[in-house]
Amino acid sequence: MKNPFLISGYKSPSYFCNRKMETKRIISAIRNNRNLTLFSQRRLGKTGLLHHVLHILAKEKEFNLIYIDIFATKNLNQFVNTFAQGVILGLTDKSKSIFDRVGKIFKSIRPSITFDPLTGAPSINFNFNSEEEIHSSLSTIFALLAKSKKRNVIVIDEFQQIVNYPEERMEALLRMHIQKLNNSVFIFSGSQKHLLLSMFGEHNKPFYQSSELMQLGKIDKTEYKKFIHKKFQSNKINIDPEAIDFILEWTKVHTYYVQYVCNKLFSSAANKITLNFVKSQCSLILEENEPLYLNYRNLLSGFQWELLKAIALEGEVKKITSNSFILKYKLSSPSSVQRGIKSLLAKELITYEDKKYFLQDVFFSRWFAVKFNSQIN
Ligand SMILES: Nc1ncnc2c1ncn2[C@@H]1O[C@H](COP(=O)(O)OP(=O)(O)O)[C@@H](O)[C@H]1O
Ligand SMILES: [Mg+2]
Repeated sequence: MKNPFLISGYKSPSYFCNRKMETKRIISAIRNNRNLTLFSQRRLGKTGLLHHVLHILAKEKEFNLIYIDIFATKNLNQFVNTFAQGVILGLTDKSKSIFDRVGKIFKSIRPSITFDPLTGAPSINFNFNSEEEIHSSLSTIFALLAKSKKRNVIVIDEFQQIVNYPEERMEALLRMHIQKLNNSVFIFSGSQKHLLLSMFGEHNKPFYQSSELMQLGKIDKTEYKKFIHKKFQSNKINIDPEAIDFILEWTKVHTYYVQYVCNKLFSSAANKITLNFVKSQCSLILEENEPLYLNYRNLLSGFQWELLKAIALEGEVKKITSNSFILKYKLSSPSSVQRGIKSLLAKELITYEDKKYFLQDVFFSRWFAVKFNSQIN
């Protein structure tokens, strides 16, 4: 039996819960030629949603669909490589082989092409010899996009990454190229809200007001309940309604964590899932992850660990430097809390959203609660 609960990637609409409004909104932006920037906390479903949109658009053959994820890129060289790869795969002019196409486009800098032995997917790699070659290749890619008869939909996932490149004026460089294209629409996406909002929302930045902003929220609870019930039911597994309620509450309806718990439950081979069974499986997940959490204790300073624990035990914290919070968890002073928060944010262990601090990882936060709550109360 195939597990209907994916914990990575995108397969097809039947594995995908709802997101109807969001899908519609992104497709409408694309059809009406508006660039759009999608942002949310990690693991809520941005990448999944973008692939869902591309899956739907692929049926119409109206667009060249180009998707790149630049999370792993560290500089302009790697960006150009990733971008070239995405563009060459996404252009649907299939009249010539990839070799011909690549060779024609990049006359002086011939990339090497390798094929994945398992999937047969081509992988293109440029060895640039100079800054100039990198820049001219970037121009070539944009020129190629400009020439396309079909309109291009270009999705750049984890877009905020460009801010970390060592090259200066990356935003200005990309903005300049993007602005010149009039047959393409761009969808940017990323998890680092403050970086994205600063890129697109500050008037002295190159991308200022160049795209519509869209914050992704959680999946509608009622829809998720139906989805979970249906997926178990159609595999002849009976799940109690209160068991589903518990899953959604325990995971805070955070997509990845919901999927993970359901994936585990499905693979347990039980054909009847009760509330107690869910609770025992959730404890098991925390146990399995414990080495990971204990490792953080070594990576963080003693104070940072205590602060993280305090936030986890509270669930979410509004007034992080208030006396009551500091006294309750013996956190010495507001200034040390402020410093601690800064480094926990930088390490992406906590998130600040809607004026509240909370742990990014729902399981980690549940683990703290189980481990230490008895000592506090
Ligand atoms: N609408 C959905 N229905 C079911 N699973 C989803 C949905 N959206 C995302 N997922 C799953 O949740 C996990 C996290 O989603 P992802 O798109 O990677 O999040 P993000 O890009 O925001 O970090 C992935 O395993 C993905 O398969
Ligand atoms: Mg993603």
